[in-house]
Amino acid sequence: MRVGVLTGGRDCPGLNAVVRAVVRKGVQHYGDEFLGFVDGWRGPLDGDTVPLDIRAVRGTLPRGGTVLGTSRTHPLDHPDGVRRIRENLAEHDLDALITVGGRDTLGTAARLADEHGLPIVGVPKTIDNDLWGTDCTIGHDTAVGVATSAIDRLHTTAESHKRVLVVEVMGGDTGWIALRAGLAGGANVVLVPEQPFDVEQVCAWVTSRFRASYAPIVVVADGARPADGSMRLGPGSGVRLSGVGEWLAREIEQRSGKEARTTVLGHLQRGGTPSPFDRWLATRFGLHAIDAVHDRDFGRTVALRGNDVIRIPIAEATSRVKRVSPELYAEAGVFFG
Ligand code: F6P
Repeated sequence: MRVGVLTGGRDCPGLNAVVRAVVRKGVQHYGDEFLGFVDGWRGPLDGDTVPLDIRAVRGTLPRGGTVLGTSRTHPLDHPDGVRRIRENLAEHDLDALITVGGRDTLGTAARLADEHGLPIVGVPKTIDNDLWGTDCTIGHDTAVGVATSAIDRLHTTAESHKRVLVVEVMGGDTGWIALRAGLAGGANVVLVPEQPFDVEQVCAWVTSRFRASYAPIVVVADGARPADGSMRLGPGSGVRLSGVGEWLAREIEQRSGKEARTTVLGHLQRGGTPSPFDRWLATRFGLHAIDAVHDRDFGRTVALRGNDVIRIPIAEATSRVKRVSPELYAEAGVFFG
């Protein structure tokens, strides 16, 4: 078969490992030929391609980012988007398209497959781990690892200076990174978007931590917000999520009288080499995705369920957000304060 591959949306560690596994199994096992589409959905929209063969993927397993490039292009926003993609797939004689993406990119894939009959197989990625139907997405484990080692380091400097250190981690609408890294790093407060927080309660936890002669680490997800709506975004900051960490440190200082500083981990969590788990997961997703192509199981995405890689409708994976449940969040509460 002739198969196109694209990586869309925000990057994450492990994208190259997926592409490598797809190509390796496709060429060696099925005798496939591949074509890479450049910059996510912009590639098939504009017909922008790169050669993709075993030589092109050699050495890419540990490499972060994506050798295919990415973008947040939305082809369905273009009145002639579907026609252009269909024509570009036909021009290159492609039988299928493997789309590696998060909620946005796979949302488009679901519509192109279900409403327009395009032969698409999905692979779920995002550091946020917010895709429904898969236990884990590619990139999440690496981000949790980066955040955890940052928290480990911040403990010693917080204790030396007897300061509150607020660590802002990514996660978008969900608190998976915050919760996992917070627990793994022994944070004293973890704040997630799923549970709007009370600043007074945060200050009470901070104060009780000082009473026990430790300096508190407060992990806050970039999408977390106070319950009373008191956080005011500065001009233009509504475009991006980041900002809650700085705001919270100021509030803690004013209300508790303790010195507070913020570390925003930002894109450090998305860049660089994937963790062993992400390489393993990405490789398995890639192997199963090319199998799905050969089964002509289009409109479906691979997903991790327990130890198994299964296939579910792409539309199901994008139908709802996988959030941190109140029960899971409550477990962490034992360590607050
Ligand atoms: O969705 C991935 C993610 O890294 C989120 O965790 C974060 O909130 C957002 O993207 C940041 O986006 P940008 O790279 O546009 O600043």
